[in-house]
Amino acid sequence: MMPDEGATVRRRKDDHLDLCIQGDVAFKTRSTLLSQVDLIHDALPEISFDQVDSSVEIMGRRLSAPILVAAMTGGTRRAQRINRDLARAAQQLGLGLGFGSQRVQLLNGNTLGFQVRDLAPDILVLGNIGIVQARGASTDQLEEMLALSGADALCVHLNPAMELVQRGGDRDFRGGLDTLARLRESLSMPLVVKETGCGLSRSVGQRLSDLGMQWVDVSGAGGTSWVGVETLCNPGASSPGPAFWDWGIPTAASLLQLDGLPLRKIATGGVYNGLDAARALALGASAVGIARPLLVAQNSGGAEGVQHRLELMISELRMAMLLTGCKTVRDLASQPLVLGAELAAWAPPRSQISSRIQGMRRGP
Ligand SMILES: Cc1cc2nc3c(=O)[nH]c(=O)nc-3n(C[C@H](O)[C@H](O)[C@H](O)COP(=O)(O)O)c2cc1C
Repeated sequence: MMPDEGATVRRRKDDHLDLCIQGDVAFKTRSTLLSQVDLIHDALPEISFDQVDSSVEIMGRRLSAPILVAAMTGGTRRAQRINRDLARAAQQLGLGLGFGSQRVQLLNGNTLGFQVRDLAPDILVLGNIGIVQARGASTDQLEEMLALSGADALCVHLNPAMELVQRGGDRDFRGGLDTLARLRESLSMPLVVKETGCGLSRSVGQRLSDLGMQWVDVSGAGGTSWVGVETLCNPGASSPGPAFWDWGIPTAASLLQLDGLPLRKIATGGVYNGLDAARALALGASAVGIARPLLVAQNSGGAEGVQHRLELMISELRMAMLLTGCKTVRDLASQPLVLGAELAAWAPPRSQISSRIQGMRRGP
């Protein structure tokens, strides 16, 4: 490690938080394509709202709804305050929580913001590290990092587009699959391969399932653009960032791309309300993740602000379930669908979902 590498990482994290709270870092023209999924209204649902059961079991933990606070931060005092508010809200509602990259913990043992079990003893907690850092770390180092932060699983994030735009970012992505294969063999807890806003293609999904990987987070395009965040961090005429601001596979398209592969999917990336969550679950996701809107809610309203945002999302999801006649989350995965043509174009040939597609919609 260079002597000031930890400080550089911490400073950059701080800039990221400021930009994500204040800046315009959404995709500009690309959407999640979740609006191209029509769930079919059931005017005679024969279910009481109280009977709708949104709970699920994920990686051995029961969640009141299939919603995770997606990976954001850690490693500074400010990040610690944020993560503790996120943890309070997640514990209160029985949802999952992802830590942001634990690179600084790996570099110098800094656990600020990565210890929340005193506040959140019961929830699913996901640790996080970048694939390049995972490549350079031994499995024992990662196990120790996860044990110190009370995590139940490790997300290994993939972010090549963002790294290429970042000044001084990683340029060498060789050895990613070998690293995942090693961790798959040797890590004692579940592994989630996670994008960070550019989505996972069928080819990547195929390579991951060939390795025996079980969990992915598609983290697709249409929500926060990390190329956008890095572009704003380093503005200038010589940046490739503006050309790639909208790069990536939309979240709904990525779910479709992975259809039929033996992978359990988390859908993060622009999934900002419970109806979009229901659409993602109907496309085969086991859970959804939400990141930036919760950072904004925490900034203005602390743990309570986060809790209110998530309560609304849970009740919207339950409403979508009732209005499609679904008593359980599992029922959503067998719902008939009408898809927009732009989204349907991403479906692989002979996909399993195709038997559930009742119709195609033209236009937006
Ligand atoms: C402030 C911030 C920091 C993030 N840091 C990480 C990270 O360290 N590791 C990671 O896997 N994803 C990270 N992400 C990406 C999110 O987990 C998510 O994949 C992406 O922002 C898209 O979701 P959204 O549209 O709900 O924001 C971060 C997101 C935000 C907003």
